[in-house]
Amino acid sequence: MKIILVGASGTIGKKVYERLATRHEVIKASAHQGNIIVDITNRASIERMYKAVPNVDAVVCAAGGAHFGPFDNMTEDDFYIGIRDKMMGQINLVMVGKDYINDRGSFTLITGILAEDPIRMGLGLSMVNGAVNAFVKATAIELKRNLRINVVCPGLVEDAVEKYARYFPGHNPVSMERVVKGYIRSIEGANTGQVIKIY
Ligand SMILES: NC(=O)c1ccc[n+]([C@@H]2O[C@H](COP(=O)([O-])OP(=O)(O)OC[C@H]3O[C@@H](n4cnc5c(N)ncnc54)[C@H](OP(=O)(O)O)[C@@H]3O)[C@@H](O)[C@H]2O)c1
Repeated sequence: MKIILVGASGTIGKKVYERLATRHEVIKASAHQGNIIVDITNRASIERMYKAVPNVDAVVCAAGGAHFGPFDNMTEDDFYIGIRDKMMGQINLVMVGKDYINDRGSFTLITGILAEDPIRMGLGLSMVNGAVNAFVKATAIELKRNLRINVVCPGLVEDAVEKYARYFPGHNPVSMERVVKGYIRSIEGANTGQVIKIY
């Protein structure tokens, strides 16, 4: 398969790339490096990416940020950070990509455990994770040309424990192997509309 991997340089993206590249043609896309530069918060940038890399069989995302901080201090603009980035960024990968991707192609997005198991200061992420999970379930039943869509929804990954464990008291970090397999299940499997929970 020919695959675009957005966020290929990240903690999760790097490991997904290593596995996918063993058996597929993978184009690495990220904000600052890779085969192609893309800013998912900018729809025109997403259009440029698809024009530069046409006829892909799978679009895979391991990118998307949101505001992290206490609810009491959150402004309306803080909510829009995640809405523009992790939410609309990924939604636009699908909205624009559905006209470029090959028949029977697939989209694989990323959310996370905070959609249903919140932590302090994680509201911005919880909110957009829930929205993207709902988007995937709802879009799956309307996509044409046998296109599929799923979302990988991991807990805190073991490779990020040093950085984030203090914010996730009592959480069991998940192995990167399980996260990578979640992506493989979506890309190479047959399911659609699935929230692939890895926790
Ligand atoms: N880490 C975890 O434990 C964990 C658990 C569950 C869910 N998640 C979710 O998984 C996703 C990736 O997490 P991560 O820890 O791997 O993140 P990360 O290490 O910070 O990597 C982020 C990746 O996204 C790219 N990126 C950032 N902003 C972008 C933009 N506007 N347009 C295109 N690409 C952009 C970065 O590109 P550059 O390097 O070029 O800047 C990088 O490749 C996030 O949505 C996160 O919420 C993470």
